Amino acid sequence: MSLRNILYVTSEAHPLVKTGGLADVAGSLPPAIRSLRRDIRLILPAYRSAIANAGRLQEKSRFSVHGFDTTVGILEGRLPGSRVVVWLVDSPPHFDRPGGPYADEQGRDWPDNAQRFTVFARTVEKIAWDEAGLDWRPDVVHCNDWQSGLVPALLTQRRQRPATVFTIHNLAYQGLFSWETFQTLHLPQTLWSMHAMEFYGQFSFIKGGIVFADMINTVSPNYAREITTPAFGCGLEELLKSRSDRLTGILNGADYSQWNPARDPYLKKTYNAYSIERKAENKADLQARFRLPCEPQTPLIGLIGRLVEQKGFDLLLAILPQLLQRDVQVVILGSGDKSLEDRLKHATLTYPRQVAAHIGYDEALAHRIEGGADMFLMPSRYEPCGLNQIYSLRYGTLPIVRRTGGLANTVIDANEKNIASRTATGIVFDDATPQALLDAVDRALALYRQPRLWKKVIFNAMQQDFSWRRSARQYLALYQRAQSVIKETA
Ligand code: ADP
Ligand code: GLC
Repeated sequence: MSLRNILYVTSEAHPLVKTGGLADVAGSLPPAIRSLRRDIRLILPAYRSAIANAGRLQEKSRFSVHGFDTTVGILEGRLPGSRVVVWLVDSPPHFDRPGGPYADEQGRDWPDNAQRFTVFARTVEKIAWDEAGLDWRPDVVHCNDWQSGLVPALLTQRRQRPATVFTIHNLAYQGLFSWETFQTLHLPQTLWSMHAMEFYGQFSFIKGGIVFADMINTVSPNYAREITTPAFGCGLEELLKSRSDRLTGILNGADYSQWNPARDPYLKKTYNAYSIERKAENKADLQARFRLPCEPQTPLIGLIGRLVEQKGFDLLLAILPQLLQRDVQVVILGSGDKSLEDRLKHATLTYPRQVAAHIGYDEALAHRIEGGADMFLMPSRYEPCGLNQIYSLRYGTLPIVRRTGGLANTVIDANEKNIASRTATGIVFDDATPQALLDAVDRALALYRQPRLWKKVIFNAMQQDFSWRRSARQYLALYQRAQSVIKETA
């Protein structure tokens, strides 16, 4: 069976539009697959920001999709920095507006998200049947997260179809909508069934992917196992267990062309594992940026992320009074829940010499934190993969992480045995409690005070290789499996 044409369906992709790690993955996995000599094309909504960041675009076709009055255009361009073809789904009433891809500037979900991602899925469906006037037919359609969950469901409506793969980047975001909303979408009524996409009285976009895709994966092996348990399954664990023969985990990679301290244009001083002393200048630069005292010896802890319950920022807030009795500084970059934003701002006012935060989204600052901090903290309650700890390894900014999801697959604890065997790359702790977090930071601080050991662990961390090539090969194998399972069931 031919495996040449792959349609990669995503709701965000760096550098066109980004809210989190999915954009990083969608911006780097397709080029990695292309370099394995496949014709992979990216499709995403033509949000206003995506059009602005895409460079030259050309309208390739325009057509109507089932259930909607307006026509949809396909704007073709290239993913900046690569040869990968990008198709933007141009439906101005749905996508041409200010604000984010899923929510307005105040962080409120767009009220028409169900319609927006149905138009998107219907467009993908047309392309999959080669009925969109593009003269291109995918062998595999690779969907990501709830925003493209409808696609595998729609594609099972015909016999001769491409294979489908569904990647779960985060099971907690499910795309749940009411019965009334479902009625406005003009979808096959058979989808409203507990064996299809109905979920406790609501319509669940993510179930479309989980129930109907030929193969399902998550973004780390550990998370693939975790989501079949009640603690992580978000109510979908039994369904996922029933599909466990189709469920695997493939660890995300890091795009080292973007995240490499030896060639990072955002850093004051570039460095590598053999010139780690140059990192000190980035630290001074970061302290100055955040108006913290420029103290070279004081350990500096960085955090970056969406300010949501998942990331465990509240655990950090809980230990701050105790933590700050130590000689330590903390810098935070993030945006999200207003209450967390407010609590962080309050902490910066209470401890101006030790805590600083930038509330907002700032790509350059994210790089400067990776380059300037000594340690990187990720106390996540759950973490499907996590990318910042992988970047931190390469930047010699030792990650302190909870043993969950992809964090457990990527960081090796600096216990005595692992230090001796030169495998240690960070600090790993078990419980999502303030005490466990404080103990972990204390272990990191103790290690920091032993410069010889500290440097040894930094050296190991910087040698780790999570480049995309290996994961891209695993995705190709997954596509092949998806093709062979439809053949068996056809
Ligand atoms: P998630 O996808 O759950 O948000 P990941 O660790 O996989 O978590 O990816 C987060 C990505 O988003 C990283 O590239 C990180 O640097 C970036 N990021 C998150 N918040 C911000 C922010 N406020 N400013 C800049 N980059 C951010
Ligand atoms: C999600 C997860 C994160 C993962 C990212 C990319 O947003 O929260 O852990 O790294 O997707 O797969």
